[in-house]
Amino acid sequence: MKVLVVGSGGREHAMAWKLAQSPRIQQVYVAPGNGGTAKDPGLINVPITDLAQLRQWAIDNSVFLTLVGPEAPLAAGIVDDFRAHGLRIFGPTQAAAQLESSKAFSKAFMQRHGIPTAEFETFTDTALAHAYVDRKGAPIVVKADGLAAGKGVVVAMTLAQAHEAIDFMLTDTTLGVAHNMGGARVVIEEFLQGEEASFMVLCDGKHVAALATSQDHKRLLDGDEGPNTGGMGAYSPAPVVTADVHARAMREVILPTIRGMEKDGIVYTGFLYAGLMIDPQGRIKTLEFNCRMGDPETQPILMRLKSDFLEVLLAATSEGLESLEMEWDRRVALGVVMAAAGYPMNPRKGDPISGLPEDSDEAMVFHAGTTETDGQILTSGGRVLCVTALADSVRQAQQKAYQTASSIEFDGMQMRKDIGFRALKN
Ligand code: AMP
Ligand code: GLY
Repeated sequence: MKVLVVGSGGREHAMAWKLAQSPRIQQVYVAPGNGGTAKDPGLINVPITDLAQLRQWAIDNSVFLTLVGPEAPLAAGIVDDFRAHGLRIFGPTQAAAQLESSKAFSKAFMQRHGIPTAEFETFTDTALAHAYVDRKGAPIVVKADGLAAGKGVVVAMTLAQAHEAIDFMLTDTTLGVAHNMGGARVVIEEFLQGEEASFMVLCDGKHVAALATSQDHKRLLDGDEGPNTGGMGAYSPAPVVTADVHARAMREVILPTIRGMEKDGIVYTGFLYAGLMIDPQGRIKTLEFNCRMGDPETQPILMRLKSDFLEVLLAATSEGLESLEMEWDRRVALGVVMAAAGYPMNPRKGDPISGLPEDSDEAMVFHAGTTETDGQILTSGGRVLCVTALADSVRQAQQKAYQTASSIEFDGMQMRKDIGFRALKN
């Protein structure tokens, strides 16, 4: 069986690495892949990013199953297109992917279907947005409507920051936000307090299977300071998701979402990721939906997956999730992101990376923003590597991840030193 993984990040490296372990797989391709998937002898990079060309390539090469990592091809309709050409692909359709690609869509959806989320309003008019913020006061959260690779959210602690964010998101064209139809739009919402967790499931259109829980670290700097990023590190499982919180997340968020989509005429297939805010009483609110697995959460989650990932995806693409039992390593996996100079606003590219250690079952260096040029690995994006380790406790996994990372060097490297701190504070 040939399988194709679409994307070029650390998540896709982990997906391809895991799939390559399946005995039934003949070849794993990654399009376009990165420096890590290039140097892995079990993987082949396919340098195609145009979706129509990629679909033709999948047909010509008899690809049996395609797995989509990132949101952009999903929002562009890759699933609809591949299916229309008879190809088997795991992911949501373009309509279903709006849960992530439009914050305005997902907030209105949650409101309509009674899914717990922060109170909010949506604006296209700058003056009205400013007036709303003045009325509500700070702290308050300003979110760009379109996809922004994790950078379209400003948690404003002061009114000045909120006003600046509104101007930036509604009028600035350099932010890198893909505006949805109707132009620039912001969602402004209530500031929530609590602890976050990433709650991911697979959905086959009818049934849902939960993946292991995890927690991301979205801020750039230690102690959750600095700007939001795509994620600076993650670990699995997340102790904040107790059995009770897990049951609530399924009952109050995941199942009503799948049913709500169905009521709205949209069958949900693919991964569904709910970003949850959990208060000290274990009550949850949905911060956001993603229509894919998280990055970097995927790296620790897949290191813990003991089941054959191919079998999981085959069940997920044939309405077979009801009878699927996924097996997880009891140990903790923890991944530390090494990011480029200038990340998240202006990542520098082209810095040579040295000291990459040998991979093992218990310590993997998943590549993200890297390329291989004449045998040399260079930085080529914001998040460069995710060093992920498996051990008996959070503390040991943390030590092992940082120890593995310690030999790796590139100019301007940024890395948080405290990944996992919330699980260690008790
Ligand atoms: P989002 O992309 O919507 O998940 O937002 C990115 C990050 O911003 C989240 O992971 C939170 O850390 C933070 N955030 C988003 N919405 C809120 C909110 N309403 N209250 C507090 N923090 C938030
Ligand atoms: N790490 C957060 C995300 O993938 O959206």
